[in-house]
Parts: sequence; C-alpha cells; structure tokens
Amino acid sequence: MAGSFSVTPWKVEGKIDYEVLEKNFGITPISDALLKRIEKHAGELHFMLRRKIFLAHREMEWLLDQYEKGNKFYLYTGRAPSGDMTLGHLIPFLMTKWLQDKFGADLYIQIPDEEKFLAKKDITDIEKMKSIAYENILDIIALGFDPKKTKIFLDTEYAGVLYKQACRVAKRITFSTAKDALGLTNESNIGWIFYTSMQAVPAFLKSVEEGRNVPCLIPLAVDQDVHFRLARDVIGKLGYYKPAILHAQFLPSLSGEAKMSSSSGKDTIYLTDKPDVVEKKVGRALTGQQATAELQKKHGGNPDKCMVCQYYRFLFEPDDGKLEKIFERERDGTMLAGEHKKELSDRINEFLEEHRIKKERARDKLEQFLVKG
Ligand code: TRP
Repeated sequence: MAGSFSVTPWKVEGKIDYEVLEKNFGITPISDALLKRIEKHAGELHFMLRRKIFLAHREMEWLLDQYEKGNKFYLYTGRAPSGDMTLGHLIPFLMTKWLQDKFGADLYIQIPDEEKFLAKKDITDIEKMKSIAYENILDIIALGFDPKKTKIFLDTEYAGVLYKQACRVAKRITFSTAKDALGLTNESNIGWIFYTSMQAVPAFLKSVEEGRNVPCLIPLAVDQDVHFRLARDVIGKLGYYKPAILHAQFLPSLSGEAKMSSSSGKDTIYLTDKPDVVEKKVGRALTGQQATAELQKKHGGNPDKCMVCQYYRFLFEPDDGKLEKIFERERDGTMLAGEHKKELSDRINEFLEEHRIKKERARDKLEQFLVKG
C-alpha cells in the first residue's frame, strides 16, 4: 500500500508508481549489468527483460553465481484458477518458458485450486475450481513448456506431497505476521491465513526431493511478492536456499488502468474472446491521441499513454526496431487511431487463433505434465 495505489495478491488498484513499489517491497530494480549477465548465459535477452517489463528481482546475482559454479536452478511459478485466463496472465509464463529453454531448467507449476475459493466471497463451489483449473492448465501447456522438464499440479490433487511441507512453513509464521503482511483481519477465514504456506512449498520442494539444496527462481507478477517475503525467511530457517525472484509489471487494461483485471471484463482480453469481441474491446482502447484526426496529424500522440502502443510493447511486437517505428508513427501523428486499433486487434486475433489450436493439441499432452499424490 502506498499513496494512491495498492498492490496486494487480492487487489491491484490505482496508478502504480513502480519506483515507490520497489522501495516498499524491498525489491531491487533490474540493472543493465544484471541484464548483461543474463544475456551472457542465455545468448540473448527476452524483449520483456530488455524493455524492463520484468523490472525488479530478489537475489538474481546470487542465482547466477550459483549457475556459474555449475549449480543449476529450477523454476517455479503458478496460477490460481478463478476464470478464463487473460493476456496479462501470460507474461510470467512466457518468461518462464524462455528461461526453461535458455537455461534447460526443470519447472514446477502450482495450480492452487483452493486459493480463490478461500479468498473470494463470490466463489462458493470448490468442485467448480477443478474444471477451471484444467482449462487454465491447457492454456499454460499451449505456451510450449517441455513435458520432460515440467510438472504441473493442483493443490487439492497433490496435497499428499504439499501438505506436510506446508505445515513446516506454517509453524514458523505467526498469525500477526501473516495478518500484517497480507492485510488480513480478524474476520478473514483461517484457510486464507494458511494459504501462503501452500504457495511457499514448491520454492523448496525440489531440495526436499533431492536431499540437497537446489536453487530456485520464481518469475511472477509483482503482486505475488508478499507471499514470498513471508516464505523466504522461513525457507532459510528450514535450511534451504531462499528462492530468487523476477518481478513483472502488470499489463495495463485497455482503458489504461493499472492491471488488466480478470474481474472487470470489458477492458480485458481473455484468451477465449472471439475476434469480434477483441475488435470491439480494442476499438474502445485509450490512445495517446489528440481529440480529432486533424489535431493528431498536427501535434502527434504519446506512445506511453497509448494502450495500443503499450500492447505492442508488452506482448505483440518483440522486435525493438519495429516497435520504435510504431511509436514514431504515433508521435509524429501519421498513425490514426482507427487504423492503429485495427492493426492491433488483427494481431491479437491472429495470436489467439494460433493459441486455441495449440490449446486443443495440449489436451493430448495433459497427462505428461500432471503430477498427483
Ligand atoms: N497466487 C497465484 C495467483 O493468484 C498463484 C501462484 C501459486 C503463484 N504459486 C505461485 C504465482 C508462484 C506465482 C508464483 O495466481
């Protein structure tokens, strides 16, 4: 919480000042020197790193020290099912996939199908979470993870493994610590209070399984940091390595709000949106443009405020040269809103169509990824 914005795992609101956020969370901005180090090992840099869409970290330098000593890391990330996934949800997963490819890393993907059930009043049927979870898993597999190196699990189906470890964490977090960190109240249900300990487990599970310390890297959206602020201390006390973390910004909503929220559908693109819906939503996007085409031609627009430009920057134009051309046409007024939006919605629809084909193919691969126990 700070000033006019708030970032918690349950709610993201207001205009986020990421510099203030980094200070409040005690996370370190990603430096150019760190990027160079990542590039040295990966052979290139993902555009989300180059553009500082992943903007902060915890202990990446340590992780790379370990890597250079031959102590390879594994990856961990997750997704709590609540409904269809949005474009914004893809950001940490796309980075995770890139890291898996470049570093040959094993990966755990946690699907806490109890989390939203516990945290949200309007979600009342825990059975329903399972079918949503499976749809989400197909979306995740469709991004191209390596089945030989990736394990995906639902908390309720992997509880036999997770629960015991979660208890080890839970015993070392007091109610007052969790209350402060997570913004809980005396009225919060006790499942919610416990939840952080479930999310902590995959960050050291591989060390438990292998009987030796294995470094872990967690790419996530910055609102998830708080769980690991609590968990990292405990994991250290249990004698394991504290996980390193890479923090992503949020994809803004098409109307320019802080986060593309899955609960306010009209400015948010879901992976299931049909082409005409995408076109309509993008058609309403906030652009950095002047009030009329004439004024736009005369004064130009502002790419930083133009959500169409920003969607290219965050996801749809990996090539920096091409992105700069799009920004330039916005600035010099030669790009008009209608055309700009049409091009983006075509690009998004092309992506979604391919994604849906990959998702259908993922159905046959599901069993290769899932672990239960
Ligand atoms: N809490 C996350 C969500 O709301 C899900 C999650 C579980 C997660 N484990 C994680 C996210 C690890 C990032 C990293 O979607």
